[in-house]
Amino acid sequence: MERSGESRELWVAVHLIGSASQSDPQMQPRYVDSDAPSHATALLAVAVVKGTAEAEGSLAPLDAALNGAVARALASGDMKGRAKDEVVLYGIEGGPDRVLLLGVGASDELDPESVRRFAARAVRVAERLGITLLSVSLDGLGQVDDDDAAQAAAEGAALAAWKFRELKSGDEDDDGGVTGVDVLGGGEGAADAVALGATIGAAENLARTLQSRPGNVATPSHIAAAAQRMSEDVGLTVTVFDEARMQEEGMHAILAVSRGSEEEARFIIMEHNGGAEGEAPLVLVGKGLSFDAGGISLKPPAGMEDMKFDMSGGAAVIGAMKAIAELDLKANVVGIVPSSENLPSGTAVKPGDVIDTLGGKTVEVINTDAEGRLLLADALAYAAKLNPAAMVDCATLTGAVVIALGHHAAAVIGNDEDLIQQLIAAGSDSGQRCWPLPLWKEYSEQLESDTADLKNIGGRPGGAITAAAFLSEFVGDTAWAHLDVAGTAYGDGELPYQRKGGYGFPTRLLVQWVRSRAG
Ligand code: BES
Ligand code: MN
Ligand code: ZN
Repeated sequence: MERSGESRELWVAVHLIGSASQSDPQMQPRYVDSDAPSHATALLAVAVVKGTAEAEGSLAPLDAALNGAVARALASGDMKGRAKDEVVLYGIEGGPDRVLLLGVGASDELDPESVRRFAARAVRVAERLGITLLSVSLDGLGQVDDDDAAQAAAEGAALAAWKFRELKSGDEDDDGGVTGVDVLGGGEGAADAVALGATIGAAENLARTLQSRPGNVATPSHIAAAAQRMSEDVGLTVTVFDEARMQEEGMHAILAVSRGSEEEARFIIMEHNGGAEGEAPLVLVGKGLSFDAGGISLKPPAGMEDMKFDMSGGAAVIGAMKAIAELDLKANVVGIVPSSENLPSGTAVKPGDVIDTLGGKTVEVINTDAEGRLLLADALAYAAKLNPAAMVDCATLTGAVVIALGHHAAAVIGNDEDLIQQLIAAGSDSGQRCWPLPLWKEYSEQLESDTADLKNIGGRPGGAITAAAFLSEFVGDTAWAHLDVAGTAYGDGELPYQRKGGYGFPTRLLVQWVRSRAG
């Protein structure tokens, strides 16, 4: 911290942000027990499924209040219920100023993800119209389980409203955005489900905020301070190792990565004790590489700025731990984030160097840009010593995973078939998919070294798998799975609840997995 305070750019940014502050005040969607046609609001979003020909069912009272305007919109063909269709109707006396009909696609294809997108599109329309308070109705989404729909609507609204504004000193085009979303309708459990979705959305938004902060702000010590502050806010026990402590522990792989940087590494441990005393914990590990230049094996300049997102796994673990604590899930959960920079310098680790690890195996560093697996090697060896019931790591680990699966799913690779299936299910339930790749022993053979126990790269073939094979050398007998999120953690903002930049992926997946395991 002291050393970093000397640099001027850093000072400027810290001056704007504060060394460990959280994000802007968060928009928290809330449940309102109200009848759509009589709910006073600037904008009420209502779902219309594909092929709706008449203003029946939940559309009927709105149509009546609007003197038949819903029926006319349907009859005109302007609203066919396709997921791109959008119509605004005006003027209910004592009710919504605007009724926004949003097509949501075929009724038999509706799922929580459709609801997340529906609520997010409503937020986007409100943004366009300069509306800060809006409402979304769950009526018309009956094909989705009531509680799942209410949760997803809250998630979609919270995620869509989030925006990273901290480092803009005055944006005339930005009026501050949406500050409130009322969720109407739904079943008996809707109020609780909306609160659940709001909590999960806010947790994912914290991850996004940490992701968005540039490398000169979100240094390892800044990430540690943010994790500490979050932990204190929600009642997690938090411990942070500095480099001296890591040296004592024997975390030589993390220290090797950090050697090229003036910034000190940090090892962050957050504990939630929601289970029985002595019950084996679930452990979440996230790669917290605050900036990855590649080290001596320097990356090409084009797009290198995106390597500030190389702490996305760590950000998601910090976000997930926040939600796990706030929801007081009935499980013991430990979140671990090894954090460092990877820079070239006269003190940096070099290709050919052989390093020690916490797990005891020696590693020949062939490519210093394969640094994430070195951080995770020590973190997983540390986690394994906690005797977890299961552990899951998430990391922007390889470009190869983008070639394998594109941007639509993370890879899941591990040593325990049940755990892998649990993660696939949690991914599909949360709308943050992961898909399995194999971990046969032949892949490990690609890591054989002439001088050390193993080398840190296995060549181009199966690059996402050999990275996981490397990690598997450090997990012992623990049930473990790895999520490679390099293709899914950030991007251009494809979905209505995303913007260009950090997505917070896989915060929701991790929370859902812990919920599925908690008593
Ligand atoms: N952080 C990168 C992986 C990455 C690539 C994340 C693209 C997001 C987008 C990682 O540290 C890395 O550099 N991996 C190398 C490994 C290689 C040297 C074996 C890669 O994927 O090129
Ligand atoms: Mn790298
Ligand atoms: Zn990296």
